[in-house]
This record gives sequence, structure tokens and C-alpha cells, in this order.
Amino acid sequence: MPEKIVLAYSGGLDTTVAVRWLTQTRGFEVIALTVDLGSQPKLEVIRERALAAGAVRAYVLDARTPFVERFCWPALKAGALYQSQYPLATALGRPLIAQLLVEAAAREGATWVGHGSTGKGNDQVRFEVAVAALSPQLKVLAPLRDGMAMTREQEVAYASANKLPIEVKPESPYSVDENLWGRSIEAGILEDALLKPPEDAFVWTSSVDNAPANSAEIELSFEQGIPTRLNTYPSPSGGGQGGGVALVDELNRLGGLHGVGRIDMIEDRFVGIKSREIYEAPAAVILHAAHRALEELVLDAETARFKASVAAEYARLVYQGKWFTSHRRDLDAYVESTQRAATGRVRIKLHKGTAQVIGRSSPYSLYRPQLATYSSGDQFDHQAAVGFIKLVGLPVRTQAQVQGAAATEPLLEDDRHVVEVGPGPLEGGLAEPVLAPTVPGVVDADLRR
Ligand code: ARG
Repeated sequence: MPEKIVLAYSGGLDTTVAVRWLTQTRGFEVIALTVDLGSQPKLEVIRERALAAGAVRAYVLDARTPFVERFCWPALKAGALYQSQYPLATALGRPLIAQLLVEAAAREGATWVGHGSTGKGNDQVRFEVAVAALSPQLKVLAPLRDGMAMTREQEVAYASANKLPIEVKPESPYSVDENLWGRSIEAGILEDALLKPPEDAFVWTSSVDNAPANSAEIELSFEQGIPTRLNTYPSPSGGGQGGGVALVDELNRLGGLHGVGRIDMIEDRFVGIKSREIYEAPAAVILHAAHRALEELVLDAETARFKASVAAEYARLVYQGKWFTSHRRDLDAYVESTQRAATGRVRIKLHKGTAQVIGRSSPYSLYRPQLATYSSGDQFDHQAAVGFIKLVGLPVRTQAQVQGAAATEPLLEDDRHVVEVGPGPLEGGLAEPVLAPTVPGVVDADLRR
């Protein structure tokens, strides 16, 4: 009996050739599995293509809702941005696909799963580490890496010789992966890190130049860290109610229109390479900004500071394919606990490539106007500051007394920095000492004392 393999099948040239190659050359019985995470694949066409290429069965699944709820929301609550920028769209999609591969393999009695990643990227790691965590006995084959070894020309020739039903489109100048959380674009001329990405690399977002001159203001509601509502101003009809998928879709559309969410970075891949990556992630960028603004309002300073280190750890873990690990579960438990008060509203202005926070409110807000105000009604105890500073400064003063004052490079001694020290307001009328503009970071107040 031939062994069965469940192959993650996109419907593109690589994986269509792989279905036939696995069948013909490796003697597998192939079960194709295609997952929609929001890139709007033509599922029925893909299903038929898989079968025509030789798959014995073809699963097509719409996993957008679990993707948003079980993968994107936890990453958002954690504040997970790899290298402080990348919202991890591709990295979050892979473990979900891996989970479905494993479940389909169990259902089909397959001993193998397969995927179309190459041997150079992070995705192979993510698929295979996830599979190992969920079903350690399963074997994994990645045809493009493990033996198929065809150039694009050879794949096209193989497809036509085997009458595989692919549409041979002109080769895309880039390698693209997309889902609801973002669109990843790499390779081709983007490998020249100095080159400005050509406009044709972008599909979801307008350029700043083409974005509308008029801004749009939106309001996002969160409940315990999860986005629940989107209202747009001034026209409420533009709001996207109806679940997380609809909310993310609508934010992608609106943010994209205003040119929000383009990212151009040099990324530290897990396999050790630095690579130039372009992303379009309007919804993720807006939601992270809004969620951060809400946390500023409701988290105490110590939690906020510590959570930032958890965010970096969480992002690294997701990026490196360690989604199904006890480490992530434990970080999730911490993050979840921090979200108790992350309920409220954030107003954002979208304009010419920016998503600017312009207001926020929460029933759990720790911002007290009566403590913060410089106007009347101030309840802050100014005299308490005297003792406070005394104690904060105590170890510093002690150290200066015992071990010597803090080392500095003198500023006043060096006459070059002072253009003129006036004779004082009474005599010549030259009231203010004027600093030479060549000293950045030193304000005149430092010299006046
Ligand atoms: N560099 C990104 C990541 O590792 C995106 C990978 C995109 N994959 C692709 N086949 N283009 O998450």
C-alpha cells in the first residue's frame, strides 16, 4: 500500500508540480489541503486543480475566524512585533496550517505531511517545529527542498508534459505570502537593500503621494485587549461590525487607502541570514498602535515596562516557529492577566501613511486629570515632592560625597559654546545668553543658572 501524505497546497505552480512529483516519483498517495487565511484563494478552482494534478482527496478550508481569534488576537494582546516592527503575519499563519495538516493526517491515516517551503526561509522551520510539537511521530517532506529540485522553467515544462491544469502566468517579480494580518513581499529586485521598493510591490496600500489629502478618523473599542468595534467618523456607515474578520478586513481597506502599514526592513531570519523584507499590514499596524495607547492608559508603569520585554520575547518565539510550546502558553497566561483592564476606546487619525493616536478612554483609566492638571483643582501634593526627591537622590548624593561627583565633560568652561554672555538686562539690554547652534542638546537654561 502506498504511504499517504497530506500536502499544504496553495494551488500555485510549485505545489501543483509537487502533487504529481510526490505521486509519480515518490509513490505517495497525496491528500491536498488548502487553507484560506484571508488571501481570498479561489477554493473551488484550487480543489479541482489538486485533484486533476493527482491528489486522491482535496480539503479546502476557511480558517479566517480561528486565525484571527486564536492567533492574531493573542499576538496583538502581547504586543508582538518582531524587531519592533513586523506584526508577524506569515509567522502566525504557519502554525495554524501545520495544525490542520496534522489533524487531516490523523483523519486520513497519513504518516507524512508536506509543505512547499524552500530550504532557506523561516517557514520550513515553523511548519516542521509545529508538526513536531503536535504529532512527533509524523514525518515531514518538503519537496522543493528535499529532492524535487526543479527550476521554474523545468516546473513549467513538467506541468505541460503531465498536462497539469496550471495557468502559467508571467512570473511574479516577488515572492509573496498574504493573510488577514498582512502581506509579505520579498526577493527579486527588493534584494537591493538601497533600492526604493517599486510601487508594483504594493497591492493593499496607497503610496503617501496617492493617499487622500483628507484624513479619516476612526474609533476602536477593545474588551480585555480584544478589538470589538470599529466606528468611522464622520460617517458611521463606514464602520465594520460583525466579528474580528470583518473588523480586520475593514481596517486593511481603510488603512490601505490612507497608505498606512507599509514596512521596509532588514530582517534577522532564524536561519541566520539578514534579508530585506517589505510588508503591508494596515490593520495590524493600526490595531497595535491603538492597543498600545489603551495600555498606556490602563497599565501601571511597572507592568507596562515588564510587559514590553514579554512582547519582545513573544515576537521572537512566534517568529522562530515556537507557537506550540509551553513557553508560549506561559507567556500567554501572563499577557492574558495583564489585559483585565484593557477595555476602552481609542481614536486614531489616518492620514498620508500615518496612524496617529488622537484620543483614548477607559472605565479603568489610571489617568487622573485632577492629579495631572497644571490648572485649578490640582490635587497633587507638591510638598511631598521634596521628601520624595530627597530619598530618590539619597544614594546618588551619598555616592557623590564618598566617591566623588559624577564625571562630566565641562560645558561652560569651553568658551566656544558661548556666543556671548550679556552684561545683564539692566545695562546693555542683552538679556539672554545665546548658545552657539553647534551644541545640540544643550538648552540655554543650562547656562543661565
Ligand atoms: N520573512 C517573513 C517571515 O519570515 C515573510 C516570509 C514570507 N514567505 C514567503 N514565501 N514570501 O515571516
